[in-house]
Amino acid sequence: MTDDKKTPVNGITALKLYNYRCYEQLALECPLQPIVLTGPNGAGKTNILEAISLFSPGKGLRKSKLSLLINIKNPKDPWAVHGTYTFPSGNLALSTGIDLSNESERRFVKINGAPHPQTTLHEWIHILWQTPQSDGLFIEGMSPRRRFIDKLISQIHPSYPKHLYRYDYALRERSRLLKESNFDDYWLRALEETMSQEAVVITMHRIDFVRQLTEAGQNNVTKFPSFSIHSKGLIEEWLEEHPALVVEEKIQKHLKDNRQNDSLTGGTKIGPHQSEIPVINLDYNYPAEVCSTGEQKALLVSLMLAQCRLQTTVCNRMPILLLDEVVAHLDNERRACLFKEIVALRLQAWLTGTDSQVFHPLEGLAHFLTINNATVKEGSLYVS
Ligand SMILES: Nc1ncnc2c1ncn2[C@@H]1O[C@H](COP(=O)(O)OP(=O)(O)OP(=O)(O)O)[C@@H](O)[C@H]1O
Ligand SMILES: [Mg+2]
Repeated sequence: MTDDKKTPVNGITALKLYNYRCYEQLALECPLQPIVLTGPNGAGKTNILEAISLFSPGKGLRKSKLSLLINIKNPKDPWAVHGTYTFPSGNLALSTGIDLSNESERRFVKINGAPHPQTTLHEWIHILWQTPQSDGLFIEGMSPRRRFIDKLISQIHPSYPKHLYRYDYALRERSRLLKESNFDDYWLRALEETMSQEAVVITMHRIDFVRQLTEAGQNNVTKFPSFSIHSKGLIEEWLEEHPALVVEEKIQKHLKDNRQNDSLTGGTKIGPHQSEIPVINLDYNYPAEVCSTGEQKALLVSLMLAQCRLQTTVCNRMPILLLDEVVAHLDNERRACLFKEIVALRLQAWLTGTDSQVFHPLEGLAHFLTINNATVKEGSLYVS
């Protein structure tokens, strides 16, 4: 890819895995291009995408226990993943792994050799993924959707996770305190004040963000469905009618009035942890949960492309897309459209599949790798 306007804005340009899943050691040099990984079942494709996903906060795209990532053949050694992240003004050395001397199920993160909390990664690198398991987003209730939306917001507002953290901490502490018969009223009031303030900040961010994402999702250019997405709940309703400070007071009063009830149920009835995030496929005017599996996959691609479009306008980083087995499920028109969008939006997408032929339109625009039995070779097996 010689045309600079088509080169991805940022991406992973080197990747090293140690004792990670099926890889004892792997070193890849990856050009700043979309990367196509093809090979038979069990070759090691998803393991590479999972390793990259660990350059974002959390447990990665499989949400596996960190100890399961250790190569079974060598269980006494820790695993580690190192990468070079290239962006317009330079390179960043990223490392993550586990320290077996430390019993806790936490992984370390190092940026340019210095330890950092996982959440710092949001400030540098944005990674979005779609896997065969991602369909759960539309069928497993609201909490995966809230997490998904919160992740998208965090990519645009790096300080947003701090509000989520403060809210969650106060929410859990309040529930714990309410179980005690003789709780400290002063501490409880402080927690409820924090919850009210953070609930308003989080909800306002969500309302604003879903509006922007819906706008970015209205398009006639792609074959992917247009959608509308909303954030719904009591706090959202209050914010429509009252200024933020009044809503904070209303939440605080509600929390105080419901202490006894909440102590019996062990939960808190209002708050951003209760918001609904309905997604409507505007092609049919159907809610996402009743769409077919193929439509849900296409809808998720729509959401991710809308996020990428939004990021081109509001920040100078583009997400890295990890699309595991997504392409094989799309019809020809949508597949061609996805490839076109990846190139037009200057995304480094990592795409996997068992059949290299379906990636043929990316020939010359992407870097092809073939994997077999945890061995990676350059080039594709596709024969025209
Ligand atoms: N901790 C581990 N140690 C060693 N091997 C592992 C470990 N975890 C998973 N594997 C193996 O890694 C291999 C590659 O898995 P991966 O999910 O990457 O395959 P894939 O190429 O994505 O296959 P598919 O096309 O079926 O999705 C599998 O054989 C799997 O059993
Ligand atoms: Mg796989």
